Amino acid sequence: MSNRYFSYRNGRLHASGVALERLAAEVGTPFYCYSADALEHGYRHFAAALKGLPATICYALKANSNQAVIATFAALGAGADVVSEGELRRALAAGVPAQKIVFAGVGKTAKELAAGLDAGIMQFNIESLSELKLLSEVAAARGVIAPVALRVNPDVDAGTHAKITTGRADTKFGIDAGEARAFLLANRDIPGIRIEGLAVHIGSQLTDIAPYRLAFERLIALYKDLRAAGLPLKRLDFGGGIGISYQHGPLTEEGGGEEIDTADARVDAYAGMVRELVEGLDAEFVFEPGRLLVGNAGMLVTRVLYLKDNGPRRFVIIDAAMNDLIRPSLYDAWHEIVPLKAPTPGAELRPVDVVGPVCESTDTFAKQRPLPPVAEGDLLAFSTAGAYAFVMASTYNSRPLAPEILVRGDRYAIVRPRMDYDTMIGQDRLPDWLEDAARQDRDAEKTGETRGAA
Ligand code: LLP
Repeated sequence: MSNRYFSYRNGRLHASGVALERLAAEVGTPFYCYSADALEHGYRHFAAALKGLPATICYALKANSNQAVIATFAALGAGADVVSEGELRRALAAGVPAQKIVFAGVGKTAKELAAGLDAGIMQFNIESLSELKLLSEVAAARGVIAPVALRVNPDVDAGTHAKITTGRADTKFGIDAGEARAFLLANRDIPGIRIEGLAVHIGSQLTDIAPYRLAFERLIALYKDLRAAGLPLKRLDFGGGIGISYQHGPLTEEGGGEEIDTADARVDAYAGMVRELVEGLDAEFVFEPGRLLVGNAGMLVTRVLYLKDNGPRRFVIIDAAMNDLIRPSLYDAWHEIVPLKAPTPGAELRPVDVVGPVCESTDTFAKQRPLPPVAEGDLLAFSTAGAYAFVMASTYNSRPLAPEILVRGDRYAIVRPRMDYDTMIGQDRLPDWLEDAARQDRDAEKTGETRGAA
């Protein structure tokens, strides 16, 4: 069985049953394409691996917050992990029940805490004692009780990229475990607050299970300790961060699916480890996977604008840029680049630099990447662009946000159209002094004078 959702059929790259070339003709380039079949596969596999545990899978919206993506997971029973009022609203709008939403983040404002309380969410993941105090005030003023999990910093090095590691004591995340313990033992009754659990999240793109084991063991020890001291805790939130494969080798007609198989195997190992640690424990669980569920379900499709040789180096200039996929510029991330037309077998690979049109050298997707022959006008795709791609996009260089398409079987839908120029520019407003000047100019034009000439 092949479980690859992006593969060549008759020499043309398809997402599920739809040729990406056809989508390029319809919406132009660049665009993001997601496979609903891949999203469903990822969620179902994760849920199956945890079967039998009292668990809520709260999809981490930050990885990809398109309404269609959230609704796909919600239809399968997913909850949501949100980190802002915007994400809270997106989750509710896509049909995620409030009782399956956890609200995380180090800097929630009073307004955001109030929005969570008004929605009736399952849990606030609280990251500092100051935040807990604010939530207590906001909840007490409303006459409601806020369900809380304290996010503990387990001081574990996740061994991932420095910019996405969160579990070490020197990061801004969570509360020191000893401090959390002392506080909870000394403050058993906090107005407007019910401490229901403990949470942890040690980083993102973890490809090793060992740091998880260490962090979860510490969290479970603290949970048992506090319960033994009489605190009515009932939930453990293990966070997200399970890493995926950004390398899948050459795509073939037969499919393949190594990156999906790798993810499935990693999930199985993770779930096995969790089961072992929570054996006999009286608790319910929350998981917050993001990248795992969407990363390899998406591609970013782009067109080659120009080829250019500067000295010994060949540059492939494409119409996607760092504003569409910032991961290579920001984290030196590596994304596979595959042609939409299957390369001729045995075609010679040539190292090229793949760059975007933005006026910065860091607008570089790949350096000296061996690619099969590429011509101007060709279509290429970046793999693993379902997570942290569109959501991190900007309009830098006044490039409108690219469209998103969701494919399922042989059907597709444009789930976000390309931003048009009027929408982009129309967000700006002139201050009154420039408005006045512009009006004077227009009036002067009518009477044939120029400003300042009288
Ligand atoms: N829960 C919490 C508390 C988080 O901070 C995160 C991600 C997640 C869950 C989901 O993590 P995931 O399962 O997706 O690894 N922009 C970066 C990734 C930043 C992740 C931030 N936190 C990238 O493109 O690699």
